[in-house]
Order: sequence, then structure tokens, then C-alpha cells
Amino acid sequence: MIRAVQPAVVAHRGASAHRAEHTVGAYALAIEQGADGLECDVRLTRDGHLVCVHDRTVDRTSTGRGAVSTLTLAHLSQLDYSRARPALSEHPGDPMRHAGATPERGDRGLLTLESLLDLVADSPRTRLFVETKHPVRYGGLVEAKLVALLRRYGMANPRSKEESRVVMMSFSAMAVRRLRRHSATLPTVLLLDQLNPLRWDGTLPEAADYTGPGIHLLRADPDYVDRAAAFGHLTYTWTVDDPTDVELCRRLGVAWVATNSPAGTRELLTR
Ligand code: G3P
Ligand code: CA
Repeated sequence: MIRAVQPAVVAHRGASAHRAEHTVGAYALAIEQGADGLECDVRLTRDGHLVCVHDRTVDRTSTGRGAVSTLTLAHLSQLDYSRARPALSEHPGDPMRHAGATPERGDRGLLTLESLLDLVADSPRTRLFVETKHPVRYGGLVEAKLVALLRRYGMANPRSKEESRVVMMSFSAMAVRRLRRHSATLPTVLLLDQLNPLRWDGTLPEAADYTGPGIHLLRADPDYVDRAAAFGHLTYTWTVDDPTDVELCRRLGVAWVATNSPAGTRELLTR
């Protein structure tokens, strides 16, 4: 049975508790805070560029309005993305809750996946966890473009899945299958947010290498990690900010925890 001794810390949308999510500033801070990995969401612009935006629209996170898929890269690049207020920074227990109140350098611009890959290329110890959003709408274009871009960066053919600089993820089993078709050597995570998959018998019918249950699923069914481990599958869990959740993940042997506060979570794990 394989179990992680200590979960690796993955910065969810960057150090998004302290800086505006999906900005260069948020990812640079995550690397500075010693995150083992960076998580990002990718979408396609109208003119076919991969950009790091979580929501379908830019309404919440920028000064603009509209769906990413209907806007061009040039249009999206003119917006200010510093308005996505970090979620955890409002938390009275967060020692850094005042951080991020004033946007800093790197907090405003649109983040393209290329810029994020440049950052990762310069930080050899950091892995990138890329989640494709709404893959069905584009008939597989997002997955094809993602793997083609990784190929350009020399990151599409790792010597082994364990050594891969990039992990590809989706809530869509179809997207995971497509990702696998484009590269059999890159590791994949099937993300889960429903209770049903917890009846999982250990096989991975969707051909993913790992599963990524939300922390709410592990709270409801802590044996999940052991069942996965018995079949040789590591577990990735999101979004783990609460100290009780961090402790639960450590106790269960979760391999990767995605957190909005890499420094805070690391501090809890090293206690
Ligand atoms: O890391 C997986 C997690 O990010 C999935 O949820 O909504 O934050 O993309 P969401
Ligand atoms: Ca995500």
C-alpha cells in the first residue's frame, strides 16, 4: 500500500489567500512560500489562447464582463484582475488576513498559461497542476491545445509519471480520457465533488492515474484514501485551508493538498 508520509503543498490558484487569484503575483508568492506545486484553471479565449481564469466569465475577477470564450486575448489583456479578493484573507484567524488588501506588482494582468509555464520552467522544484474547465463545449480543443503547449515547453514526455513537471486534471471523465489520448505519459487526476464516487471499488474506469476528491468527501468518508492506496493510487485533495482539514489529510496520507495559503498549510504540517 502506498501512502504519503507528508502531503505536498499545492497553491490553489496561486497563493490566493493573500494575492488576487490566477495572477503572476499570486504564483510568484506561492513559489516564494515554498509551495511544491501550483494549481491553475485554464479556459480558451475566442481566438484560441489558453488563459488562467476559473469562472466562465471574467465578471468576478476583473474589471470587465463577459464569458472568456466570447472575448479575444487582446480584449482580456486590457482588464485589471486584481479585484478578486482573496477568500481566506477575510478569515479572522488568518495571520496574513491584511495581506493582499492593496494590489501589489503582478496582481493586475491577465495570466496566460504560457506565462505560468515560463514561471514553472524557472522553478525546477515546482510542479504544475492544470485543470481544464468546460472541456465538452470545445470538443476537446482545450485538451489538444494544452498538450501541444506542454510539448513546446518540453514537458509533455516525462521519463515517468512520478517525475512529471505537470499533472493534468478535470472533473470531466471525458476530458481525462482525451488528455490521456494526447499524452499517455503525463499523469492525470480525475477530480471528484460528488458523494457517489466514494463507492468506488479501487479501479479507475476513467483511466486517470489519481483521483482528486474535495475535502468535504474525505470528511464524509475518511477511508477513501486507504481504499485508493490499496490499489496503488495516490490522492489529491482540494481545498484544504482549515487546520482541522490539514490535520485530517496528514493523518489519512493524502499525497497532495491544494490550499489557498501555502505558507499557512506548510506551517501546520511542520508542527
Ligand atoms: O484543485 C481542484 C479544485 O480547484 C477544483 O475546484 O472550483 O476551485 O476549480 P475549483
Ligand atoms: Ca481548479
